[in-house]
Amino acid sequence: MTTKMFTVPDKWKWFTESRYGMFIHWGPYAQYARGEQVLFREHLDHGEYAKQACDWNPEHYDPELWAQTAKNAGFKYACFTTRHHDGYCMWDSAYTDYSSAQQAPKRDFVREYVDAFRKAGLRVGLYYSWIDWRLPAYFDGPEKDPEGWAKVKTYLHNQVKELLTNYGQIDHFFFDGVWPRDADDLDSVKLVEEMRKLQPGIMINNRLGYSVEHDGVLADGGIGAGDSDTLGDFGTPEHLISVDQNRLWESCQVTTWRLWSHVTGERWRPADYLLDMLCESAEKGGEHGGNLLLNVGPTADGQLPPEFVQRAMEIGRWLEVHGEAIYGSDGGSVTEFITRGRQTTRGNNLYLIIRFWDGRPVMRLADLTTRVKCVTLLTTGTQLDFEQNGEELLIKGLPREAPTRLFPVIRVECESKPAANQWGKERLWEGDPARVAAWAREQRGTSVFADGKER
Ligand code: GLC
Repeated sequence: MTTKMFTVPDKWKWFTESRYGMFIHWGPYAQYARGEQVLFREHLDHGEYAKQACDWNPEHYDPELWAQTAKNAGFKYACFTTRHHDGYCMWDSAYTDYSSAQQAPKRDFVREYVDAFRKAGLRVGLYYSWIDWRLPAYFDGPEKDPEGWAKVKTYLHNQVKELLTNYGQIDHFFFDGVWPRDADDLDSVKLVEEMRKLQPGIMINNRLGYSVEHDGVLADGGIGAGDSDTLGDFGTPEHLISVDQNRLWESCQVTTWRLWSHVTGERWRPADYLLDMLCESAEKGGEHGGNLLLNVGPTADGQLPPEFVQRAMEIGRWLEVHGEAIYGSDGGSVTEFITRGRQTTRGNNLYLIIRFWDGRPVMRLADLTTRVKCVTLLTTGTQLDFEQNGEELLIKGLPREAPTRLFPVIRVECESKPAANQWGKERLWEGDPARVAAWAREQRGTSVFADGKER
């Protein structure tokens, strides 16, 4: 697997150190409990929706509790929906009265979130949707309605700058929902420059406009997400874990089956499935690995659903023991390991993250060229015997019972950065097919018969 080399600026190192963020989709749509896009998807009446939004008053919103839970669950940062496609603002915006501050709650939800998460030592991210389904001029655009469009654009720019002026240090900014506008309409390049002046350290995602027509490639992301291959500091594959070749990336994923905001009766993905997404993100993406932004949709009254908390805490307990394989890891895929699980690396260490435990005492790893110094079952802290014969590593004395319900991890400490021979590097369907021919020719012969001999 090859990825382009690039250097991560120091100010963004926290992102690769973190690996794991919490995405929070919360707004008045939670009252319907059928997803954050219910207004559009069910073609609801705008007036009725707005009335219900203005009356929404979530009494149990306690961001300090959310932040504590996020911290205990091993998340290192969060990203909170300040305004989704329905246009309702979760902060005290000077540019509209359609907000939590001016309607029923009379609270600045963004401020409370930012303060609480920062106090808990987490990095802070804000999600902001370009699209606002209430505004006809957004959809008419600059050509059909130049005056209306100019107003909308000013409104969007002002709100983003407001969010980056009034709430202290913002580390991460997640634009969304560009369709049908593009970067030229939105002047997103200029806005990004202004954002960097206000927040020099900020990381801004790639949903800034251009996609197929401009960049030539449709980056991974929701249809209409407006992902750009050339704009933005990090890629945002959505419902997907795929490498962005040119920059850092963060896969955003739901914990349920499909929707981002709270849904009554929705099915939940199991903890091992969620953890595997984190491991896969860390594993993929060359030396920098990738991040996972794992979503939760709090209930309409402001609580993290118990199904989420239970799964998140299970992963958090796993991270307490195995965190060194994830946080700040350097990406994996050193050698072939798909028959067992996933790998990550960190300096001279190779971490084998094992999906299933087959109870056999010996595990064989083929094609590792680096000399091994020490092997530890990280899950229990037990040092394991091993034997290295050339490029074959045999790890011995593994317990019969799985040492954890989630994934056991074996740490292989090497004398230098873990590396593999050509066979280990070039996976199935990759590389020079001559090596497959040589393997068969040398070990068995050339014919279709069982003994490989020509008749
Ligand atoms: C999408 C959806 C949206 C969700 C988001 C998360 O593009 O429109 O509802 O907030 O992606 O990445």
